[in-house]
Amino acid sequence: MTATGDPLLQPLRLKHLTLRNRFMSTAHEPFYTEGGMPKERYRLYHAEKARGGIALTMIGGSAVVSPDSPPAFGNILLYRDEVVPWLAELAGSVHSHGAAIMIQITHLGRRTSWSTADWLPVIAPSPVREPAHRAFPKAMEDWDFARVTRDYADAAERCRAAGLDGIEVECYGHLLDQFWSPATNKRDDEYNGRLESRIRFAEEVLRAIRARIGAEFIVGVRMVCDEDWDRGLSREEGIEIARRLARSGMIDFINVIRGHIDTDEALAHVIPGMGERSAPHLDFAGEVRAATRFPVFHAARIQDVATARHAVSSGKLDMVGMTRAHIADPHIASKVAAGRESEILPCVGMGYCIDRIYYGGDALCIHNAATGREATMPHAVARSAGPPRKVVVVGAGPAGLEAARVAGARGHAVTVFEAASEAGGQLRVAAALRRRREILGIVDWRLGECARLGVEFRYNIYAEAADVLSEAPDVVIVATGGLPNTSFLDEGAELATTAWDILSGAAKPAGSVLLFDDNGAHPGMTAAEFIAAAGSSLEFVTPERVLAPDVGGINYPAYFRAFARHGVTVSLMLRLQGIKREGNRLVAMLFNEYDRSRHERVVDQVVVEHGTLPLDELYFALKPGSRNMGEVDYDAWIASRPQQVTRNPDGAYLLYRIGDAVSSRNIHAAIYDALRIAKDL
Ligand SMILES: Cc1cc2nc3c(=O)[nH]c(=O)nc-3n(C[C@H](O)[C@H](O)[C@H](O)COP(=O)(O)O)c2cc1C
Ligand code: SF4
Repeated sequence: MTATGDPLLQPLRLKHLTLRNRFMSTAHEPFYTEGGMPKERYRLYHAEKARGGIALTMIGGSAVVSPDSPPAFGNILLYRDEVVPWLAELAGSVHSHGAAIMIQITHLGRRTSWSTADWLPVIAPSPVREPAHRAFPKAMEDWDFARVTRDYADAAERCRAAGLDGIEVECYGHLLDQFWSPATNKRDDEYNGRLESRIRFAEEVLRAIRARIGAEFIVGVRMVCDEDWDRGLSREEGIEIARRLARSGMIDFINVIRGHIDTDEALAHVIPGMGERSAPHLDFAGEVRAATRFPVFHAARIQDVATARHAVSSGKLDMVGMTRAHIADPHIASKVAAGRESEILPCVGMGYCIDRIYYGGDALCIHNAATGREATMPHAVARSAGPPRKVVVVGAGPAGLEAARVAGARGHAVTVFEAASEAGGQLRVAAALRRRREILGIVDWRLGECARLGVEFRYNIYAEAADVLSEAPDVVIVATGGLPNTSFLDEGAELATTAWDILSGAAKPAGSVLLFDDNGAHPGMTAAEFIAAAGSSLEFVTPERVLAPDVGGINYPAYFRAFARHGVTVSLMLRLQGIKREGNRLVAMLFNEYDRSRHERVVDQVVVEHGTLPLDELYFALKPGSRNMGEVDYDAWIASRPQQVTRNPDGAYLLYRIGDAVSSRNIHAAIYDALRIAKDL
């Protein structure tokens, strides 16, 4: 398709505003705020998307309008005047790259907690607790209505004063639509009952906003048009609200949501992840567009350009939200326009970005370490100004592949040694679970980039020091990964099957299995689902107080669904200390440290997951001959300066060790190690 004929690259007019194409990033709070203000990190993050050609970036996931809507995940504090200059600087930066910028504003209602910020009670239409955020709200009184309505208008005025192009009023799972939904509105006053009563408050708020900021400023709503829930707002009522708002003259676009978000399981269907079908709510968004004849935006797992193109060309959407897709690659639009679609770094739906904000962390992409680090890490790696060097990378897992890609993009001659017959390392093991196969996108994209950049791969070579040295390298990067760690067992380690054995196919799940997970992340859960789906009877044992504490809110529901479907038994607070043989069966010896009791389980197979131990022989063999003796200057690393350690002037090469070859961590850590080292070579 030529760029000029591409429906995705056609402009869209919204009142006085021309959006240069159909790509948008919908609201999401990445937790990059500092003290509730969108400062440099926030600005650079959105400016990168603008530079990458996006038409509209909707900032501020749930920027809060009132102090009794305290931030649930680092939200921008729109109720403070000091926000205006920060927003103005951000808007100026995005505008300078030709993109439009709007902000989502909200009162979270019951979807937050009272024990932060100013310790004000949480409010809602009725005292119905939201399971996800766990606050018991106060039912709103007359003075709450007046106060919150005024706060919305004040916040809208601040946004206009900052030079933003518009606002989007959040109406799904938050205060305004908590009045719409029969699940949360139990009032017996004029704000409940018939549809017009339930939407009364939202209309009062929109009216107050319009009265304050005038008719010209762009105002949209991101609204639930069907809660897809027997207790919630029906499809008919949702679409009717959309029609009424569209006709009201108070709004300029509708951003369609389908589903409810009061539990993690429900949210996982609104923000579908890995293994879910593509664009599950796109047809519904198209129905809303047909019913309202109004500009419709929508996002939910539209990850690839072909689906986005279909969404526009089939008339389902006016603007296509590709939110996580832009977290993964902020340069989608410019790559499409330049005919470089195949170079787009794909969002693989891993959900690491959103899982992290649930822990109070910042949103990071599992396989793009530059996102959110725009001040120091490049999204587009530039060629080195220095002479080309010979770089040898050992290991083609995520760390090695990223190092090879980045070193290749720097213009160096790169050779990768890999012991297996194909690239991927632990990612291939993780991909054994069918619904998580998309993880291989992390490998495939890097292989594609490496091919484009002329990186050489040598498979089936378990590289020894001599193999590496025969290449006369200037730089050696050891990314050999690790092997499953069973060293924690007091006895019987040789009887243990590892999660890796199961997923790689080296061992088949037996009839009755005890899986001990003392890692708390994806590998144990993935192996458990694999074992249970194979028909084994499975007891999942962990010393933690919860299941898999490092698997976040978007990812655990799919595992729990599988656990429920296959009847997996879960035992908390138990530590596996040893394994012994009993006839042709195994005895798992368990210890409960809280009452100091000991327990035994007789099973056919004991599977353990306790991270990996580094495969570091090659690194230590190469260390004496290196110029830096393997040392990394952490101060320089943190400050993103090139490494300049020389501890052995006679050394022939620089040596670095990255990823799990250092210690058992995760994919993001491996890729960040690689980018940090290779970007300065
Ligand atoms: C880190 C993160 C935070 C989010 N926070 C919000 C939010 O505050 N308000 C909102 O309406 N949507 C929020 N979302 C949802 C996105 O706007 C979007 O609907 C979702 O990611 C699905 O679209 P996608 O598949 O294109 O990513 C968030 C998403 C992510 C990844
Ligand atoms: S972490 Fe996963 S879901 Fe989030 S942007 Fe990256 S690839 Fe996509």
